[in-house]
Amino acid sequence: MTDQPRQNLTGLDLIAEIARLKRERNAVILAHYYQRPELQDLADFVGDSLELSRKAAATDADVIAFCGVKFMAETAKILAPEKIVVLPDMEAGCSLEDSCPPDDFAAFRALHPDAIALTYINCSAEVKALSDVIVTSSSAETILAQIPREQKIIFGPDRHLGGYLNRKFDREMILWPGVCIVHEAFSETELLKLKAQHPGAPVAAHPECPPHIIDHADYVGSTSGILNFAKTMGGDTLIVATEPHIIHQMQKAVPAKHFIGAPGADGNCNCNICPYMALNTVEKLYLALRDLEPRIEMDEELRLAAKRSLDKMLELASGTVGKGDLGRA
Ligand code: 13P
Ligand code: SF4
Repeated sequence: MTDQPRQNLTGLDLIAEIARLKRERNAVILAHYYQRPELQDLADFVGDSLELSRKAAATDADVIAFCGVKFMAETAKILAPEKIVVLPDMEAGCSLEDSCPPDDFAAFRALHPDAIALTYINCSAEVKALSDVIVTSSSAETILAQIPREQKIIFGPDRHLGGYLNRKFDREMILWPGVCIVHEAFSETELLKLKAQHPGAPVAAHPECPPHIIDHADYVGSTSGILNFAKTMGGDTLIVATEPHIIHQMQKAVPAKHFIGAPGADGNCNCNICPYMALNTVEKLYLALRDLEPRIEMDEELRLAAKRSLDKMLELASGTVGKGDLGRA
């Protein structure tokens, strides 16, 4: 287990306090792979967006402490409205969500009345309510395969994931122009230098990466897909082109292998830490469990409208088990 900042706030043993509050509140801690290692180690379950949605929908806990970003905690609330859902820092947003204001998305939809809206889960509840089917990176391929080729589709907010799907499956989805600032920051020049330093080391990339990074990848997939590739690949060194905190789980699963974060333009991978995910800390998780705040609240009409497209995802993704998923470009 990672060293934990034990004495904080008022000199409390935060790890023991979090365990006590979890019991008292009948709470479950869910964490995404991009969370700080100490939060991943405190979680009852660590997973990708689809797995976390499924866990939220299935839990019998009364409280979900969601260590991730706001759209993920909102998804938990949409699927489990009777639970109290707390997010340690309510400012933990997402650049993809920010790129897609609901009014602009509604106008985009209106421009393409004969298209359905297939929408990446990294968006607001309002945009989910304006969509027909939600996808995650681990379910997008399975879901797209079930939509007839002649059906016109608008895809948002991630133009890189949409573009990757268009290229791989020869589709012509109309793309919303959003990007993830974290995956956008990888440098092709620095990646090629790193590959030259580690001849034969494969590259695993998240489909939120731009095409000039995807083109050098041996494996493209969701966070859980990349983790699974790390466990099952033949060699002993992997270059990881996604948010580097996932390397914590790789190192735990296969300590003998060597995992290197793909670099940004400065040759250092620190610019690829998600600034939103990094807002959550052990201290804020403790406070969220103690105070049951900050809490996700949602208008019931909006929740039901957003739930329709999420339910469609869960129905169409039923064959997706969170491994393999997108596979090679
Ligand atoms: P995954 O669904 O692959 O975990 O991706 C979530 C995300 O926000 C990637 O930036
Ligand atoms: Fe959003 Fe990118 Fe952070 Fe994922 S890594 S939460 S897409 S900003």
